[in-house]
Order: sequence, then C-alpha cells, then structure tokens
Amino acid sequence: MTPVQAPLSVVILAAGKGTRMRSVLPKVLHPLAGIPLLQHVVETASQLQPNAIQVVYGYGGEQVPRQLSELELSWVLQTEQLGTGHAVGQALAEMEMEGTVLVLYGDVPLIKTKTLTTLLEQSRTSGFSLLTVTLQNPAGYGRIIRDGKGRVARIVEQKDATAEELEVNEVNTGILAVTTQQLRAWVDALESDNAQGEFYLTDIVEMAVREGVEVVTVSASTREEVQGVNDRLQLAQLERLYQQQQADELMRRGVTLMDPSRFDLRGSLVTGEDVTIDINVIFEGEVTLGDGVKIGSNCHIRNAVIESNTEILSNTVVDSAEIGPDCRVGPFARIRPGTQLLRSNHIGNFVELKNAQVATGSKVNHLSYVGDSTIGARVNIGAGVITCNYDGANKHRTTIGDDAFIGSDTQLVAPVEVEAGATIGAGSTIVKTAPADQLTLSRARQLSLKGWKRPKKI
Ligand code: UD1
Ligand code: CA
Repeated sequence: MTPVQAPLSVVILAAGKGTRMRSVLPKVLHPLAGIPLLQHVVETASQLQPNAIQVVYGYGGEQVPRQLSELELSWVLQTEQLGTGHAVGQALAEMEMEGTVLVLYGDVPLIKTKTLTTLLEQSRTSGFSLLTVTLQNPAGYGRIIRDGKGRVARIVEQKDATAEELEVNEVNTGILAVTTQQLRAWVDALESDNAQGEFYLTDIVEMAVREGVEVVTVSASTREEVQGVNDRLQLAQLERLYQQQQADELMRRGVTLMDPSRFDLRGSLVTGEDVTIDINVIFEGEVTLGDGVKIGSNCHIRNAVIESNTEILSNTVVDSAEIGPDCRVGPFARIRPGTQLLRSNHIGNFVELKNAQVATGSKVNHLSYVGDSTIGARVNIGAGVITCNYDGANKHRTTIGDDAFIGSDTQLVAPVEVEAGATIGAGSTIVKTAPADQLTLSRARQLSLKGWKRPKKI
C-alpha cells in the first residue's frame, strides 16, 4: 500500500478543560503574546496550506468558536472528553476519505512549521510518523517503547506504565501524521480498557506495528517547541521564550533593544533602519516604526504608524494613531484613536489628543485636551487648553487655522473656529469664531482696590 500525502487535513485537539489553569476561561483561549494559544496553532497549521483544519472543542462550549470566529476552520464538538482517540474520531467523521491527517494540540503553541513539514515528509514512506522528544524528567508523558532493533513498538501512558517503562526518557509529544484511511480503521478499533478508562489515540501505534506499518519518529528541535501549557507558570515561561525569540529577530533586523528581556510585542512590528527601543515598551496590534525612530521607556503603542526620526518619550500611550516624521511626543502624553500628527509636531507632558488632525510644526506642550479638532500649521496651543468637544449628547469639532496662538487655560467650546493668525488671550472661554489676525479674549477686566485691608483676627 502506498500512502497518499494529499489532501492534508489538520486536527487540533482543544476540548480539554485545563483544570490546572484554575480559570473560567477555556485553556486554549488564554493569550500568548496577546493571541489565544489555539490561534497560534491554527496560524502555524495554515502555513502548511491544508485542505481543512478541524478544531475539536468541548470545555467552555461555544465560547471557543465564538472568540475565534474570524479564523477559517471547522469546529467539531466533543461533548464528553473521552480521550484523545475519541476526540480524533469525532473529527474523522467529517473528513475526506483520502489523504493524510496531522494531529496537533491546541495547548502546544510554539510548534514550528518546519518541524511539521519534516514530520509530514517522514510520514510519506510508511504512512505514519510521530513527533517525539527526549526529556530529563519525562513524568506525566506517554513513553515511546522500542523493540530490540530500535523500532517503535508502542506508547505506554504514565499511568499504565511499569517501573521499567517509566525509566524511558523518549516521550510522545502527541503530534503525529498518519494516512486518513489507516487512522480511520485504527480509531474505530480503539478500546478504553486502561488505567484512565479513556480512548487513547496512542494505542494506534501498537495497531500499526501489528499490521507491519513502520512508525517513523521525528525529534522536536527543542523541548519548548513541544511544551504544552498546563498551568499559568508554563504559560509565563512560554511567553518569555516567545518574546525572546521576537526580540532576537528584531535585533537581527537592526533594531536596538536596550534590554531584550524587557520588551513585549503582542502583534506585529515593522521597523526601518536604526530604530531604538528603550526598556518596558509594549507594542500591540500592527505597529510600524520608520527610520531612526526612538521609543522611550514604559511606552504602550498600539496599532500605530510612527514615521522617521520621530521620538516618543517615556511613559507615552499611543493608540490607533499616525505620527508623522520629526515629531517629539511625550513624556507622559496620551495619543488616542484617530489622531494624525503631520510633521515636526511637539506634544508634551499630560497632553491628551483624540481624533485630532494636526498640521506641520504645531505644538501642544503642556496639560491640554485636544479632541475632535483640526489644527493648522505652526499653531501654538498654550498650557491647560481644553477643547470642550462634548455637550453631554453630541461631539463637536474645533477648527484652528494656521499660525494661531491659543493662550494658556483657554476653553474652546465646540463647535467653534479660531481663524488663521488669531491670538486668544489666556484664560478665555471661546464660544464663537475668533477672527483672523485679531486678539480675542473673554475674561473679566482686572481691577485693584486702593485702600483695601485684609481682615484681621479678632
Ligand atoms: C497525551 C498523550 C501522551 C502525551 C501527551 C503530551 C494520549 C492518550 N496521551 O497525554 O502520550 O505524552 O499527551 O502532552 O493521547 N483532548 C481532547 N479531548 C479529549 C482528551 C484530550 O480534546 O477527550 C485534548 C486536550 O485538550 C489536550 C490534548 O488533547 O489539548 C491532550 O490531552 P491530555 O489530556 O492533556 O493528554 P495527556 O494525558 O497529557
Ligand atoms: Ca497534557
């Protein structure tokens, strides 16, 4: 019998509860680098361009498919967790007759495409390949039992193993590739007469050997690659490892990371030349940093484009914004969604911008809120200026023309316009158009009372 490779069907087992996570959230939905564990596995599997990806889910019910509804895959419900063999059986019911099945685990997030490609290549000869790993401490895993000639004979689970079998260090990762036809026959024949009363997928190894099918093994490149997540400690370990790998890759691409162990990327980061990132910066979603961009310590940057030679100073939060070249933002600035800084802008401490479009060279240096605003070029917004954009029901826009100067502690009650070249006196409340090139101010005149005496204590 010549095993057929294509079409490839991937089955991802994800029905387990993950008791040791001590969480109401199903284990496979816990995030690694901001993305659910299961999604990492799905994305890796997709690289193999399979015909279908089936995820066997159960614990947590519809929560799992609902949260990952954007992904292109089929969901197979396993109502009772009767074992890995039973789980694969559920998926087989909805699978093509021909081809190869690759079994993956939803809680083993760092498995590499390259390893899976090797596993699939190896399955071509006999129709059955198994990913194993050798561990110093194999406790808990199924052991690979080999015959006198070193060929795989069977897998014995920890709970069913003899003292001698427990000495074996080569263990089953659970990941395997097998021809669909054979898998179907073997899974149908599985029984649950073992220590756990479960249908063990691992029992198909012995069935294969009995039928003269050689079970080829492939070794995982690292232990971490096949490390499952069972508790939050293991999750944290894999998170650090994954972050380290991303940091290494960025440094290879020419990014300076002041400390790669204090760097977090939860999404994707595109970088130009000579980007420098200080410690404790979190990047989320899709972020692009142009040539020469510098990011100060403790910044949180999410879904943003920051163009060349712009500097983001410490403790600044940027969310869903575009920051043009040669800007200086922060320290302690908050740039909220919809904001666009065109070029050479200075945004200082305790300034909040929201849905504000700011043209070249304009500055908002201290303690201001600028929301729903269009700001021209070379505008100077003084300290403590507030756009009153919300009337309790609706949001309104503030428009400020080129070269305007807004004195400190001014409130701009939107909708309102300050025309080009206008100057607003400090402390004004502006409720109607401030004409171009004039000084507009609204404040009580200052007066001093001659002969006034401070009251004295009696
Ligand atoms: C399994 C293997 C063991 C291997 C180990 C690697 C079997 C019988 N044993 O053991 O040889 O060393 O993985 O981690 O296969 N799952 C379901 N439905 C079920 C049961 C499990 O979807 O009915 C899923 C779980 O969510 C999990 C995976 O299958 O992602 C493995 O199940 P688990 O119970 O952790 O198997 P182990 O006992 O660890
Ligand atoms: Ca496990």
